[in-house]
Amino acid sequence: MSFLSKIFGSKHNQSTNQFVNPIEVEFHSHLIPGVDDGVETLEQSLEILNGFQSMGIRKVITTPHVMSDFYKNSRENLLPILKEIQAKLKAAGSNLEVEVAAEYMIDDGFIPKIEAGELLCFGPEKKHVLIELPFMTEPAIFKEALFELQVAGYKPILAHPERYSYFAFNKSEYEALKNRGILFQVNLLSLIGYYSKPVMETAQFLIDQKMIDVIGSDTHHIRHQQLLPEVYNNKYYKKVCELELLNNQL
Ligand SMILES: [Fe+2]
Repeated sequence: MSFLSKIFGSKHNQSTNQFVNPIEVEFHSHLIPGVDDGVETLEQSLEILNGFQSMGIRKVITTPHVMSDFYKNSRENLLPILKEIQAKLKAAGSNLEVEVAAEYMIDDGFIPKIEAGELLCFGPEKKHVLIELPFMTEPAIFKEALFELQVAGYKPILAHPERYSYFAFNKSEYEALKNRGILFQVNLLSLIGYYSKPVMETAQFLIDQKMIDVIGSDTHHIRHQQLLPEVYNNKYYKKVCELELLNNQL
């Protein structure tokens, strides 16, 4: 082996084995300014959106919190801000697609929203809906809410299942939810231990069990996005990308 091939041989092997990120659709973030605990200004939103595009993302579905007590968001206040963001991106020559949906807390105000047909949905049939739960206690209406969602034809995606300690301590709950047809979205930062070690281990368990259907960054601010290169180098990121993820169909 020549001197040069000794040097470039290893480089060549690296490049042929190089991991290519297959994810084109970023799902789950808080990029509508001033409506929840996510970004506060239009400039912050645009900076993060441009960052996603430079990471190879072609579409961002952003998902502001909807909570009956704190964040009373709906299409009425969200869509005008989305239009402003889209106009700014277009004016800057960006072809990034941006959509708005929501991350619905399962609380007392949720079932009335199903009945009123108010849910902000996404996906090819506009039937997917992102839901979340409190971190410490399962709400009494959770199973009823799932039933009502599914009877109405929605496809619920449970945000960050790895973060609910009451499921993590009783992992058969995950299987029961999957058997009911609930889709699971893991948070990318869970893979690098951003929230805690137990959350990371639960995320790894769900990936090992092939229970994850969608991945998302749950970006609230630029610091979350700045951690994504570390995620892309994580072996569990590569492992989750081998599953049949829905991201690119959304
Ligand atoms: Fe979120």
